[in-house]
Amino acid sequence: MEKLAMLYEGKAKQMFKTARKEELIVHFKDDATAFNGEKKGQIVDKGIINNKITNFFLKMLNQAGIPTHLIKELAARETLVKAVEIIPLEVVVRNTAAGSLAKRLGLPEGTKLERTVIEFYYKNDELGDPLINQSHIELLELATPAEIATLTKLASKINQILSTFLAARQVDLIDFKLEFGKTSAGEIILADEITPDTCRFWDIESREKLDKDRFRRDLGGVEAAYREMYKRITGQKWQ
Ligand code: C5P
Repeated sequence: MEKLAMLYEGKAKQMFKTARKEELIVHFKDDATAFNGEKKGQIVDKGIINNKITNFFLKMLNQAGIPTHLIKELAARETLVKAVEIIPLEVVVRNTAAGSLAKRLGLPEGTKLERTVIEFYYKNDELGDPLINQSHIELLELATPAEIATLTKLASKINQILSTFLAARQVDLIDFKLEFGKTSAGEIILADEITPDTCRFWDIESREKLDKDRFRRDLGGVEAAYREMYKRITGQKWQ
């Protein structure tokens, strides 16, 4: 499958058309941004690692009955996916307080949450992706109540599958962000990526951060953390 015109360029990925209108190619870049693009940089080989990890997780989720946009991995940085209409919501799932939740609720980072928290953010660069609730989603007609219920159910199931898999690899899944899309038939499927850019991964014992927070917070060892997650998730040596 050949890449045709670029459809869209985001902070970490490019999307290309293909000869089939129902299929697109995602290209994973090494570019990294944080704080809505205020901080910019590069993480060497991030695109390769994120492509591999996303393929691994989406395949695993597909096998567990979660519908996803994955068709197949094409190259080191490229994957063929189903074209969908992206639902303009970021669905964040949290098991432990960190980042914006720790700040908003005044909980010390690392506090285990008694129940899983699921949040919705409105994907809108101009507004800075604000946290919104179900009433807001319905008001803006971003999703119907039935669709919100489906998103919540899928997010919760994905959390169970990923948390269990990662715990067996000595990784605590602190929180993560998902995006969903709608197929032309109206089915809601998981889209986008699941990577150290979009998840918080902490070593279960040492609580060492193995994700993009190393870049966001200038902690150093960014590339090493991405490679470590590649190894733990795929079980393969890095290159
Ligand atoms: O910053 P915050 O604590 O709200 O992030 C929660 C989770 O969602 C983190 O795992 C972060 O990596 C992810 N996230 C993301 N893209 C965003 C915002 C958050 O992947 N635009």
